[in-house]
Amino acid sequence: MEKIVITGGEPLSGNITIGGSKNAVLPIMAACILTDEAVHLTNVPNLQDIQTMIKVLESLGVKADISNLSQNKLTVCYEDINKNIAEYDLVRKMRASVLILGPLLARKKEASVSLPGGCAIGARPIDMHIDALKKLGAEFVLDSGYVNCKAPKGLKGNKIDLKKISVGASENIIMAASLASGESEINNIAIEPEVIDLIKCLKSMGSEIDFIGDRKILIQGKENLRGTTHEVIPDRIEAGTYMIAGALIGNNLKIQNIEPDHMQNILNVFEELKIDFKLNKDSISISKSDIEVGVNLQTEEYPGFPTDLQAQIMVLLSKSKKNSSIIENIFENRFMHVPELNRMGTQISIEGNKSIISPSSELIGAPVMATDLRASVSLVLAGLISKGETIINRIYHIDRGYEEIEKKISQCGGNIKRIK
Ligand code: UD1
Repeated sequence: MEKIVITGGEPLSGNITIGGSKNAVLPIMAACILTDEAVHLTNVPNLQDIQTMIKVLESLGVKADISNLSQNKLTVCYEDINKNIAEYDLVRKMRASVLILGPLLARKKEASVSLPGGCAIGARPIDMHIDALKKLGAEFVLDSGYVNCKAPKGLKGNKIDLKKISVGASENIIMAASLASGESEINNIAIEPEVIDLIKCLKSMGSEIDFIGDRKILIQGKENLRGTTHEVIPDRIEAGTYMIAGALIGNNLKIQNIEPDHMQNILNVFEELKIDFKLNKDSISISKSDIEVGVNLQTEEYPGFPTDLQAQIMVLLSKSKKNSSIIENIFENRFMHVPELNRMGTQISIEGNKSIISPSSELIGAPVMATDLRASVSLVLAGLISKGETIINRIYHIDRGYEEIEKKISQCGGNIKRIK
């Protein structure tokens, strides 16, 4: 099994270019089921999760042109082959496969999806996806690990109040309501930039979606949508991860192709920590900074601090001379990186959903185990600032979300390689 080996202590300087957002492109790919015409996407990251979504879609009849994926272009076109099942073998690899449920149900009046797997960060139910689709007239049966749903008379627009904010449930219901008959009013939707990018793409496909409140939208359902060309937004989580690398060990490290508006939550923390950075129109330059203060953070829905950067910021906070704390509000089992980081010398304790990060002396490299996508990359960050060698096992998690991570870091002077 492949491993990543890092010898820490080398400063990072030069440029790192951020790819397209994984979490934006996955629902947008699923949205291609809503039309017979081709959807052309640019700024698509070449990642394992994208390959998995291509396989899920291909199993439903989608033709995917991946010949230019190395140039970050992808074309997907749905061809109805009367297959409405997303199988366990694919869905277990990536929870986001559940995003085909809404569009397939809207298009085919019938869909079956295996209950999802994906990152081991808690229970992660899909009850809200199901409840919202029920409001549009769908009927659900759970059978042998599959969620089978039907809407024999087609989906019908309705008023839907999402009981809490969910990115995936918002995306599924927005896609389904786009082809439902009549109007839908959806309340309490997620406004993560990835959801907004999906809405932008759907609108360019002919969907009529309007915000009538901060988290409230109206959708006028259409009979058909058309194909489109769409440029995916930059990945704010990849950007935030490398920004943290810059704050840890950068020497004027420039992170380019970012959308500064999407980075405000982490920039606020950098300001509190007095990190040395310079923000430009679509890039940011960051240098290693001594941190004299601690912060008390909580993960929240956008525009709050993202759970997907919690593990990474923890490494930065461990370099502060004062205590910090992080409350994880989104996923209940998302501190699995803590024991691994502590084996490298961090001083982090956990009480329920709160972690206390105390100052640590120099970290020492160690063999460590990646547990989920973002946890894995926090180990890379820790490895970059540790004395000696860090060997990260189970790196397939990293490949799900970080394109060419060794190349991007080694080009900037980091001593990182992948071994078999
Ligand atoms: C998406 C992101 C993931 C990110 C998360 C939160 C993708 C592919 N993944 O995941 O990287 O960490 O948003 O920003 O975009 N919940 C329910 N019932 C449901 C659905 C969700 O209780 O039916 C709960 C979840 O367990 C969690 C919370 O709602 O506690 C938020 O989850 P959600 O926003 O749905 O996350 P995902 O869409 O799975």
